[in-house]
Amino acid sequence: MITWQELKDSCYSCRKCGLCGTRNNVVFGVGKENADIMFIGEGPGEQEDLQGEPFVGAAGKLLDDMLSIIDVNRTNCYIANIVKCRPPMNRDPKDEEQDACFPYLQKQIELVNPAIIVCLGRIAAKRLIDPDYRITREHGKWICRNGIWMTAIYHPSALLRDLTKRPETFDDLMDIRQKLREVHAQL
Ligand code: URA
Repeated sequence: MITWQELKDSCYSCRKCGLCGTRNNVVFGVGKENADIMFIGEGPGEQEDLQGEPFVGAAGKLLDDMLSIIDVNRTNCYIANIVKCRPPMNRDPKDEEQDACFPYLQKQIELVNPAIIVCLGRIAAKRLIDPDYRITREHGKWICRNGIWMTAIYHPSALLRDLTKRPETFDDLMDIRQKLREVHAQL
């Protein structure tokens, strides 16, 4: 299996799609490299591109609060994105950009080998759970695939824009906390 260092080296020098031309930094991912739980966002925004770390802007501050609700922090989970380079003007990553970048995430998942994956928002849920995923209808539902429990919740940016989505997300977070406890109890 590829090592973390080999994966980081190839990702940091990646030129597989057009996003490499406008990036300041590749945003590889952060956290515990053998975490029980992974959170997967969409792609870096402005602050993430400048600092080289996922979820460090306004949405990231909210994500930190969401993690603390479930007794998780940046050192005991792993956080990554579907695409590692910022799409200009924060547009959605194009299919071909996601296709080019996805193998990096697949290898990250293999290396972390988490018990739980939480997709943050529609783009990650479509890529990782189901191409027809409808976040409004399906957030908080669980599926177990290849031994990994998977769910999706609203993206923190959506929760910044629309406060009415927060109570449902709180319920989803409670379920995630419960699932994490079950996983820990089985270890
Ligand atoms: N939004 C994302 O999906 N990922 C980040 O890293 C930052 C904002």
